[in-house]
Amino acid sequence: MELTRKTIAKVIVAAFLLNLVVMGAGAWFAYQEAPPIPEEVVGPDGETIATGETVQDGKAAFQQYGLMNHGSILGNGAYYGEDYTAETLDLKTEHMREYYAQEEYGAGYDSLSSSERAAVDQTVRDDLDGAHDGSDTVQYSAAEAYAHEQVRETYVERYHEGDRDRGVPVGMIESTEEAEDFADFALWTAWFSHTDRPDGGNSYTNEWPYSPAAGNDATGAAMTWSVIAMVLLVAAAGAGILLYKSVKLPEPSAEGIAVPEPGDVSIFPSQRAALRFIPIAAGLFVAQVLLGGLLAHFYIERAGFFGIEELFGIHILQVLPFSIAKTWHIDLGILWIASTWLGAGLFLPPLLTGHEPRNQARYVNVLLGALVTVVVGGMGGIWLGANGYFDGQLWWLLGNEGLEYLEVGKVWQGGLLVGFVLWAILAIRGLKPLLDREPVYGLAHMILYAGGSITLLFVAGFMFTPSTNMAVTEFWRWWVVHMWVEGAFEFFIVAIIGLTLVSMNLLSRRSAEKAVMLQALLVMGTGVIGVSHHYWWIGMPDYWVPIGSIFSTLELLPLIFILYEAIGQYRAMTESGGFPYTLPFMFIVASGVWNFVGAGVLGFFINLPLINYYEHGTYLTVGHAHAAMFGAFGFLALGMVAYMLQLSIDPERWDGSWLRASFWCWNVGLALMVFVSVLPVGFLQLEVAFTEGYAAARSLAFYEGPLVQTLFWARLPGDSLLILGTVIYFADLIRKRFVLRRSADDPSVDDMAVAEGVLNDDD
Ligand code: HEM
Ligand SMILES: [Fe+2]
Repeated sequence: MELTRKTIAKVIVAAFLLNLVVMGAGAWFAYQEAPPIPEEVVGPDGETIATGETVQDGKAAFQQYGLMNHGSILGNGAYYGEDYTAETLDLKTEHMREYYAQEEYGAGYDSLSSSERAAVDQTVRDDLDGAHDGSDTVQYSAAEAYAHEQVRETYVERYHEGDRDRGVPVGMIESTEEAEDFADFALWTAWFSHTDRPDGGNSYTNEWPYSPAAGNDATGAAMTWSVIAMVLLVAAAGAGILLYKSVKLPEPSAEGIAVPEPGDVSIFPSQRAALRFIPIAAGLFVAQVLLGGLLAHFYIERAGFFGIEELFGIHILQVLPFSIAKTWHIDLGILWIASTWLGAGLFLPPLLTGHEPRNQARYVNVLLGALVTVVVGGMGGIWLGANGYFDGQLWWLLGNEGLEYLEVGKVWQGGLLVGFVLWAILAIRGLKPLLDREPVYGLAHMILYAGGSITLLFVAGFMFTPSTNMAVTEFWRWWVVHMWVEGAFEFFIVAIIGLTLVSMNLLSRRSAEKAVMLQALLVMGTGVIGVSHHYWWIGMPDYWVPIGSIFSTLELLPLIFILYEAIGQYRAMTESGGFPYTLPFMFIVASGVWNFVGAGVLGFFINLPLINYYEHGTYLTVGHAHAAMFGAFGFLALGMVAYMLQLSIDPERWDGSWLRASFWCWNVGLALMVFVSVLPVGFLQLEVAFTEGYAAARSLAFYEGPLVQTLFWARLPGDSLLILGTVIYFADLIRKRFVLRRSADDPSVDDMAVAEGVLNDDD
């Protein structure tokens, strides 16, 4: 079998249409099937306990004050604090038990005999495990009404008055009323986690979180589809190998060809401008890792930093609590990676086309300026917003919208969107000579499709406001987060690697196109609908369990290809002695290997519904996210930096030794962090979730246990290496600043070693 590019292009269009139909229908049903927000929650005597309004206001407070980056809701968010859904469910059952123990036996629950306790437990479960009658009013039993009040008090004490032992600052939620509303919101998610859908046997969350006390246990479907998915995984591995062997993809090779030497290539003014993205992104990177160190430390000392609690009368917990540091940490991570890519995307075109559009350099500078404005505004807005400095609706427009990964206020988000569009326009200008010559499935087109899908998916982040149902909000949020990392980003990196290999003469344009298209097809065919592995426990319909199991399991296929390609790239790098681009290649190969390890191996660890049911929102996810995000996408960004710098510095002045040192610090640091500390904590957490219930796995008691604390200390070497690598990298950039070549005023195709070959490599 030898698939042609045309055939692959047709299948891609078919896959795209299938995705559109499935996810379009999914969106429609998301609104229909989301857990209802009741108009009123009433007690046994008809008294109002909570209203739809207080639940909505509670969601707003949850977002504004950054609670999703302190703890999690429905298992999504940060894992430092409790999961609010699981904890309020847990507290609710405990208070209900107390209530019935007092009512029926006149004694505390703990002093009851085991048979009395069993009777009480059963009463509690009977109260909680019923189906919703579909009406607008939720009817509480007296025990539930009592428990609701108790939980509310606990949440006011903790999140409004502050709790140093838990690392919650004083006034995290500004007013008592807002803290009560937040409790109502969390308790609403707990309500739909134990209440069955009107028509079916399972709760709105498919019985998540695991809580024997509330009658929540993994469903039969989670079990069955895990087994099916596991078998499918074996089959998919075989199919992947078969496919790889039969499509006859040429491997990059440096044998017998002239790899352009760095000194042979002229630098255009727009490329000099694109280089400016690098130090700015590196600054964000340094800030990100330093904040990461602080976050790790907070797990050991919840209200101080190596014994320092207060400096000049300012308490660290009040100025930079976990939630804000965590928000910055993840947002800066996305921003430095994305801006490095944007820079690379603007640097590469002249290498291939030998052409620079008029005023391109000026526009590149404008884009960079806009980006810096949005980053400063967005990050500043998060601090100001979370601290209550914005009135009215401004908190989510300019301040902290608070939804994990999409925290920056909507206006800044709009700014980023404009930035993406601007970038696309500049990339189209730069790639024009290629775009004009190649077919619509050519390499330059692929870069634009990938960039375009990143932009388009970002629009899903505009589909909700603070008043949108939480389940629907999560539905859209994962469109951005998952479809970016498991779809558009994967597509983008294979396209950019393809382009890079072509610019190095290691692959013909046609071969690169074929590889990129195949990847695009596999990613599109699996990763888009694969988003449904995030829909299992958040209040979406239960058919996502089978769909998610199948499609996200198939996501292994493109990752096997990436590993194969990394091996081919490694061979190309080592086969010829004088290959000039070893350093960029080391990063590209590392990116492929980490992609397989972080996304593939560690992703699949948590991907079967039956494991994910217990694991959701634990440290196993942390391990996966770090290894995949930094490993696959961070390393690729840094590899592009290495390539750009090498081309921009005269070979006799080039010194890659610092960058090489950083490379090893980062690799070893990441591996130590993930395998020595984070994953072991995740395993312990998984075990506790399975034996004691999910809430216990996320409790302060778990995190404060001696073994877990030791494992948190064990992060120190890995984290320190990561920080060291980043500092060396930053220092190296400052050093290199002074040896950059000047750009040629008017370079042409003749000065570009590869351009002519690329432009002539037509069908
Ligand atoms: C390089 C590609 C990938 C990146 C960068 C990535 C990153 C992430 C991130 C950032 C999260 C959210 C973590 C959080 O909420 O704190 C996540 C969650 C998750 N990822 Fe990935 N991922 C990638 C690929 C994959 C693949 C291929 C799979 C498996 C098919 C996968 C399975 C999952 C699952 C199941 C979760 C949810 C875990 C939970 O229940 O809490 N990921 N990933
Ligand atoms: Fe995902």
